[in-house]
Amino acid sequence: MMKSEASPAASPLASSAAHACGVDFGTSNSTVGWSRPGQSAMLALEDGKTTLPSVVFFNADEDAVYFGRAALANYLVGYEGRLMRSLKSLLGTSLIDGQTEVMGRALPFRTLLAQFHGELKRRAELAAGRSFDSAVLGRPVHFVDGDAEADQKAEDTLAEIAEEAGYRHIEFQYEPIAAAFAYEATIDREELVLVADIGGGTSDFSLIRLSPERARCDERHDDILASAGVHVGGTDFDKYLSLTTVMPLLGMGSLLKNGSEVPSSYYFNLATWHTINLAYTQKIWSQLQDVLRDAAERDRLERLLDLVRQRAGHWLAIRMEEGKIGLSDAATIALPLERLAGAPTLALTRSGFDHAIGHLVEKVADTVDGLLTDAGVRAGDIDTVFFTGGSSGVPLLRETISALLPAARSVEGDLFGSIGAGLALDALRKFG
Ligand SMILES: Nc1ncnc2c1ncn2[C@@H]1O[C@H](COP(=O)(O)OP(=O)(O)OP(=O)(O)O)[C@@H](O)[C@H]1O
Ligand SMILES: [Mg+2]
Repeated sequence: MMKSEASPAASPLASSAAHACGVDFGTSNSTVGWSRPGQSAMLALEDGKTTLPSVVFFNADEDAVYFGRAALANYLVGYEGRLMRSLKSLLGTSLIDGQTEVMGRALPFRTLLAQFHGELKRRAELAAGRSFDSAVLGRPVHFVDGDAEADQKAEDTLAEIAEEAGYRHIEFQYEPIAAAFAYEATIDREELVLVADIGGGTSDFSLIRLSPERARCDERHDDILASAGVHVGGTDFDKYLSLTTVMPLLGMGSLLKNGSEVPSSYYFNLATWHTINLAYTQKIWSQLQDVLRDAAERDRLERLLDLVRQRAGHWLAIRMEEGKIGLSDAATIALPLERLAGAPTLALTRSGFDHAIGHLVEKVADTVDGLLTDAGVRAGDIDTVFFTGGSSGVPLLRETISALLPAARSVEGDLFGSIGAGLALDALRKFG
C-alpha cells in the first residue's frame, strides 16, 4: 500500500522552490512537476511541451534510442527497429520480469523502464536547471485489480526502477489524490469532490474534502473519504474498437478449412498496445504460415501476414486511437488504412464504439458505485466531479459518471497536467 505521509517542516505555502519533483509516469503520457512560487509547476519535456509520451523506439538503422514524440515519428517514418508503448501496463504482470529482443540483443523490460525514467529525469532537470534526488511518484489506486500482493510488487518494482534512474528518496501518492491537490489550488470554498482520473491504463477515483484552509495542512488523511480504481483505460478502448472493427478485416472470426475458427490470440495481441511486439517473433511467423495454408478465406489472412511482415501493428493501433479520439467530437469518422492490402477505409461510428466499450464503462461505473458505498456517502452530497486524464474525453464515460452524481457540477481539469501539478505540490509537502 501507499507509504505513510511524511511530515516535513515545510508547508505547501513555503515560498521557495521545492527540493523534489513529482513524477506522473503514465501509460500513455508522462509529466514532471516542480513547485516554484509564481510559476506553472509543469516542466517542458519535449519541444516545449509538458508531456513526454511514454514511448521508446530502438532505431536499429542508427543503433540509437528515441523517446516520446520523436520515438513515434521514427517508427512511423519507417526506420527498422522496435517500438515500445504502454510500458506501465507491464507493471503488475509477469511480463515485467521478461525481456524483449532489440537489435539482436535481449533487453529486460525493467532496464527499458529504467531508461525511460532516466530520460524523464534528465529532461526535467534540464528544464528546471537543477538536479532532483527526491520525488513523489504517482501511482494508480490499483496496479493490479483484486490482488494486494501483486499490487505491492508492482509498486516495489516501480520504486526500484526509479532508484535505478537516480532518485535516492521516493514517496508514492495516488494519482487521483494528486489531481485533487491541483484542483484544490483553484477553489475558494470547501467542496466535497469526486476526482475522476480516466487515463490510458486505469480509471481512478478519490472522494475528498477540499478547501483553501485544508490545503495548508500537512496531514490530509481525514479529508480523504475513499479511493478506488479499476484497470480500465483508453488503451482498452483502443483494443475493443480494434477488435470489433479492423481485426475482422484481418481474418478474426474467419474459418479454417476444417471448420474451426482462426485462433483469436493473434488479434488480441495485435490489438493490445503492450503485446503488439509478441506478434513479431519467429515462432508466431511460422504459425501464421500454417494458418494461411489452412485458411478458408485467404485474402484476409494474407492481410494479416502482410501487416506483421511490415511490423505495422503499432501503426494500426495508432490509427485506431486516432479514430477513437475523433469519435469524442464526431458521430462518425472515416478512417483510411492505407497500409493494409486493398487500402480499406473504416467507417467508425460513435454508437458502434459505445457498444464495443459498454462492458468496460460498466466496470468503471461499478467502481464509482462501490466507492460511494464504502465511503457511506450519498451521491447527492457530492458537490463537484473533477474530470482529468485523456480518456475522460470519451462521451459515454463522462455521461455515465455524471449520471451517477446528478447533483454534482462537472469541472474539467487540465486533462494531461493535473496529476503532475498535484504531485509537485505533494513533493513540496513531503520533502520541503
Ligand atoms: N479527446 C479524447 N477522447 C478520448 N480519449 C482521449 C482523448 N484524448 C486522449 N485520449 C486518450 O487518453 C489516454 C491518455 O490519457 P492520459 O495521458 O491521461 O493517460 P496516462 O496518464 O498516460 O495513463 P494512466 O494514468 O492510466 O497510466 C489515451 O488512451 C488517449 O487515447
Ligand atoms: Mg494518468
